[in-house]
Amino acid sequence: MGQEDKNIFRKGLAELTPYIPGKPVEEVRRELGLKGRIVRLASNENPIGPSPKAIARMKGVLGEVNFYPNGGCFELRAALAERHALTPGHFVFGNGVDNLIPLVVNTFVNSGDEVIIPIPSFAAYRTSTVIAGGAPVEVPLRDFQIHGEDICRAVGPKTKMIFICNPNNPTGTIMPAGDLKSLLTALPREVVVVMDEAYYEYVGHPCYPDSLAHLRKNENVIILRTFSKIFGLAGLRLGYGMARPDYVTEMEKIREPFAANRVVQAGALEALEDYEHICFVKDVHEKGKQVLYRGLEDLGIDFVPTEANFIFADLGVDMECLFPQLLKKGVVIRPGTAWGYPAFARITIGTPDQNKFFLDQLATVLKEFQ
Ligand SMILES: Cc1ncc(COP(=O)(O)O)c(C=O)c1O
Repeated sequence: MGQEDKNIFRKGLAELTPYIPGKPVEEVRRELGLKGRIVRLASNENPIGPSPKAIARMKGVLGEVNFYPNGGCFELRAALAERHALTPGHFVFGNGVDNLIPLVVNTFVNSGDEVIIPIPSFAAYRTSTVIAGGAPVEVPLRDFQIHGEDICRAVGPKTKMIFICNPNNPTGTIMPAGDLKSLLTALPREVVVVMDEAYYEYVGHPCYPDSLAHLRKNENVIILRTFSKIFGLAGLRLGYGMARPDYVTEMEKIREPFAANRVVQAGALEALEDYEHICFVKDVHEKGKQVLYRGLEDLGIDFVPTEANFIFADLGVDMECLFPQLLKKGVVIRPGTAWGYPAFARITIGTPDQNKFFLDQLATVLKEFQ
């Protein structure tokens, strides 16, 4: 590509690389010619699947997909407003949180504004910032955790937005309530704090902050949640943001008109109310977490205790070497290389069967490196 061709693209693109998702099962099968079992614990999906009631409701609306959806998610908005003791005007919906991250950035960040992003964390914060012409200010984690005081130290006159991924992806750690409160108290009023709570429903830690309480006090927080994780609807894409109504009014001006599709809106309404299914998913998750903790300990592997549905573990071997060997055994996990941790992997907590398969294959492969 000549220099002239390069200049045709937006400036920020030169410093970006494509997002690398967990390797899809079909791709692994095709590339390696694997016939046997493949277990994919790479994208923090719900291994059980969505509520059967949600599936039934979604099937019921398939005959209506010739019509555009209700862009404002009228029914879901009302249901969520009641559940969270907010008003319908506090909500904005998108095609997954992935779609809401650029929306919040594009609503607030002007060219040259600084956006504070802990690292390692979710890659989309940086991508959206760069493409909006903002300047990412990266604050490294300490002990795998985001620390409010470190974030505070990075705040300057140009700071516009702060991303806090809570629990953090890929480490699974939380920023505790006291830390968030001190941070919010110390911040200038014109700084917006975006709390990405994609894994909110998995958290059991007593110190996890009630970010909604901050929002109810009209503080500058935007809370992002998703139907992709505990509700098991990742393939259909639905996320929602909660923010002060005056913020939502501005976001509504640039949100995609029909980002939340008709099928997922119907499914989400059922998924939200199906407590029995959510309890079942949580139970499988909790037990799986303990099994993986014990299994990793038995293999002498250090890991970061998690509040999400994945575990960040130090496998002790460069993933450049280990990852291909695991793939050959039918195990797909997420190498830590992209986050600057070449010997780490992020492992999604699976079903009992998947967890066992993973631990067995890992033990076999690790022996080859001893
Ligand atoms: C922290 C975080 N935020 C957002 C997302 C994307 O969520 P969604 O599927 O709603 O786009 C993910 C997905 O893994 C995530 O880990």
